[in-house]
Amino acid sequence: MKSRNSTAHILKGAALYMAVLIAAAGCKAPCDTSNATFNETVLPILTSNCYPCHQANSAQGGIILEKYEQVQAVVNNKKLVNVINHNPGYAAMPLASRKLSRCDIEKIQAWIRSGAYETPPLEGVFIQPFQSCQGIAAGDRVSSDDNLVCTSVAISGSTEEGRSFMEYGNCDVVLTQRPYFNIPPYNEVNPLDPRQLDRKFMAELRWINSQVRASGCVCCHDTASSGRKAAVWDISAPGIWTDQLSDQGVAILSGKVSSEILGKFTAENNNGFSRDSTGFPTTDVPRVQQFFNNELTRRGVTDADIAAFDEFGSFLIDIIDTPPDNCTSEETIQADGKIFWTGGNARYVYVKEVGSKNPGVPPSNDNPEGVLWRLDVLANVAELSPGIVYGGIPDGTYQVTPGDNAAPPALVSGQKYQLYVLFDILQPICNCIFTAP
Ligand code: HEC
Ligand code: HEC
Repeated sequence: MKSRNSTAHILKGAALYMAVLIAAAGCKAPCDTSNATFNETVLPILTSNCYPCHQANSAQGGIILEKYEQVQAVVNNKKLVNVINHNPGYAAMPLASRKLSRCDIEKIQAWIRSGAYETPPLEGVFIQPFQSCQGIAAGDRVSSDDNLVCTSVAISGSTEEGRSFMEYGNCDVVLTQRPYFNIPPYNEVNPLDPRQLDRKFMAELRWINSQVRASGCVCCHDTASSGRKAAVWDISAPGIWTDQLSDQGVAILSGKVSSEILGKFTAENNNGFSRDSTGFPTTDVPRVQQFFNNELTRRGVTDADIAAFDEFGSFLIDIIDTPPDNCTSEETIQADGKIFWTGGNARYVYVKEVGSKNPGVPPSNDNPEGVLWRLDVLANVAELSPGIVYGGIPDGTYQVTPGDNAAPPALVSGQKYQLYVLFDILQPICNCIFTAP
């Protein structure tokens, strides 16, 4: 009898569990936003909901939404995301009709979050940081000012304070910007750590976690939200995860060891999050420093110990500091302005002043002073072959320096310049000094 009863109990439990699952699936129908593309995802939604009011022969409000460039314009000025979310201050679209389905809105936003490319980025190519603006996610806190959440999509980028990078950013993009490995913690977490009973300490740890969750760090350092096993440290590990860090790791997060080499945004461009003097971007630098300095003290790590650590990212520093050679006869700018290099095709071409720094990781280290001309290839376009023209902007590329597509300064005949060509970010294939013809 007893065993029959408990079997029935288990079955009843299972039935209840299934019912909950079905109910959950019913109230939030699954919406597949993966691989949202312009042609297959976005354009069909616009065609069935926004035409005939936004076609060439009837451009209501002056807006046409037929071609990629036209849609890109309303992505860039944030109008698209505001009108479809019926945000205050914008005409609600589609006009005089029901809002798009939650799923259609999510699909358009997922496409924006992946960089709003016309065709998807090529596999393995570094995707440049960009801003993605989204309506407030279902169930998330409503803003006080507007109902738009803008996020710097990059490893060093952050969404708004208290929100989740997983929700508003994009880890697929972040994973193109740095290699990911699952690496076990350097130290085990002690499940009996008495600090777990210290409410003040645990509240501070939760605040630290919320700051990390707003940033691109979460893509490789938070198993729970990213669904990806963590590299060394995991903010959702049970107990006090900071124990997992090496001493150097703690020093990096406290800012005592600089990780500037990995790039950073200014706080103004990153929802108030700064990474000037801490490891992850934060809205409260002294608070993060205090937390991790306390951890250094607890571990007995002294400033002398810290000074003896290897510089963080030393192999990246080596790349940036590599001095140029003299250009060979195959590495040159001809009198007609054609630039040649060896080592294969390229995604980035720089012509710089001699003595200027080599470019590193965006958004802060890729535009060193002294760059005269910089041309980038879009992430969804194949690399350039040698023979491009100084100051020319071939299809699929864009000129970063000088801005506004201004002509770069004419090279002075007989003067020396540096040619710096990268296969991709931090992968130089040509670094040499040439004499202008
Ligand atoms: C029935 C006609 C109609 C439909 C359907 C329609 N629009 Fe509009 N749209 C308009 C009109 C009219 C305006 C100008 C309204 C205004 O400026 O107040 C406009 C303005 C806009 C603007 C500019 C808003 C601004 O603040 O400058 C955007 C962007 C836009 N529509 C996008 C869309 C999208 C996206 C869809 C489909 C999801 C859509 N519209 C569907 C008629 C329509
Ligand atoms: C794409 C994956 C990825 C992202 C995103 C990422 N990391 Fe890491 N992180 C790693 C890997 C892999 C390692 C271990 C190998 C290494 O140190 O390079 C690591 C190691 C570290 C360490 C050293 C830990 C120790 O105990 O020594 C620190 C500190 C760190 N990351 C900080 C950050 C911060 C801060 C961010 C966000 C600004 C971030 N990481 C984002 C992959 C990532």
